[in-house]
Amino acid sequence: MVAVRLPHQFQNILMAQTKLQEEKLLGEIRSWVTKIYSNADHLLRTEYWLFRLNPKVDLASRIAALTHDIERAFEDGRKPPSPEIKSARWDDPVYNKWHGERSADLTCQKLEGLKVRDRSILNKTKRLIRLHEFGGDSETDLVKDADSLSFLEINVPLFISRIPTTLTKEEAREKFDYMFGRITSAEAKNQANPLYRKALNKLNKL
Ligand SMILES: [Fe+2]
Repeated sequence: MVAVRLPHQFQNILMAQTKLQEEKLLGEIRSWVTKIYSNADHLLRTEYWLFRLNPKVDLASRIAALTHDIERAFEDGRKPPSPEIKSARWDDPVYNKWHGERSADLTCQKLEGLKVRDRSILNKTKRLIRLHEFGGDSETDLVKDADSLSFLEINVPLFISRIPTTLTKEEAREKFDYMFGRITSAEAKNQANPLYRKALNKLNKL
């Protein structure tokens, strides 16, 4: 069979249509997380940092950045240990695995509800969310690094406001150290450094 090659203008039209469909889907996901999650700014800024670290990042990675913590919006079924519960270990692998899997499952249910049928996008999004606390390859590391940057930018006042009722100063410091220390790429570390220093200064003033 002879392969049919579309003229350039048709290829460009198809690419533009795909881009428009992706932007529409991302808009729907942004609306969803903003509606249901009180700390949606952290998710929106994770997508921002992801794109800033790699402007060529794909659709699955952007969806994962926007939804990686979404299970925290669903009170029913949450279980300890949780970052909201005193004395939780920030790097607890059992909790982080559970948190990632629950966010991945809830996100994929939403994507299916939005009529996303492409198995490769669903599977990749699921994998990236499951591993967002761990990283391990260039794509999961990118989501993890963007998460850390957004955390240091957005979540620091939230954690400081919990001292001393549900967090000690030392526990908050451990969380800031953990989120900064787990960053993989040199560029992300460079961007995160002033945010981390600012977070420590705020803590030291308490
Ligand atoms: Fe996060």
